[in-house]
Amino acid sequence: THKIILDTDPGIDDAVMISTALTDPKLEVALITTVAGNVTVDKTTKNALTLVDFFNKDVPVAAGATDPLIKKFEDAARIHGESGMAGYDFPEPASKPLALHAVQALRETLMNSTEPITLITTGAYTNIALLLREYPEVKSKIKQIITMGGSLGRGNMTSAAEFNIFTDPHAAQIMYNSQLPIVMVGLDVTLAGRISDETTDKLKQFGRAGQMLHDIIGHDFDHDENGTAIHDLQTLFYLEHPEAFETKDYWVDIVTEGPAVGETVADIRGAYHDGKTNAKVCVGIDTAAFNQWLLEKVSQNMQ
Ligand code: BDR
Ligand code: CA
Repeated sequence: THKIILDTDPGIDDAVMISTALTDPKLEVALITTVAGNVTVDKTTKNALTLVDFFNKDVPVAAGATDPLIKKFEDAARIHGESGMAGYDFPEPASKPLALHAVQALRETLMNSTEPITLITTGAYTNIALLLREYPEVKSKIKQIITMGGSLGRGNMTSAAEFNIFTDPHAAQIMYNSQLPIVMVGLDVTLAGRISDETTDKLKQFGRAGQMLHDIIGHDFDHDENGTAIHDLQTLFYLEHPEAFETKDYWVDIVTEGPAVGETVADIRGAYHDGKTNAKVCVGIDTAAFNQWLLEKVSQNMQ
């Protein structure tokens, strides 16, 4: 089993990732923290609590940063719907967030853990940057960070920038400079490894959770003839099946100003940073295995 913390901004694809994590007997979700991103932090927190209640789990949720460190906040509600989880009529959550701020909750959870924890991040990097700046002692408790964000090619917010990095590039820069083991699951692989319409359609057969996932995925705009890009879910797939990805070690820098703000610049030649690297960057994924894995998770763990 893997002990994990999810730092998220649900968000349809975050919601699919959170649902899969909460129900996976191989994973122990110690904490969910939320951040402003796809929608405001009030909404991302409510959505995380809604999912915890949907699956009847006792996992703490802590609300985090309302705004990026420096840059002005711009949401993606036009993609994820006003609520952030459009497509399914969820009841109001009964659970409440912790009284602690996400950064405090992250510190406590990490420092109180006897074993190092894997951080899965699928939103902007604001909470992580604040944590690393304020409480650097947590570093020894972080096993690895598997993060959805960035791109070696095109962006999806601007032609240069992927949304999670674009939202808070300064925070992303702090994380990439942290020397922690980082796995970058960027747009290169999340756009290539789509969940096919056939897979989405099959989800319907697997009870109320399967129906819910089917309905929200059907509301995701990141859809083309090959299916839907459930970006954030690939972080969990990497955690359990790193062998299904092709990776390259690079030094990744973040553009924090100007028209390319939020771009991830990987030192592909290895020359500028003298061969030093700060991240394992995913460059290829076994799409069939990813589809198969999701179907197995939903059919085995959520029925
Ligand atoms: C990322 O941006 C968000 O809109 C999605 O939830 C995902 O984390 C994809 O670029
Ligand atoms: Ca997200």
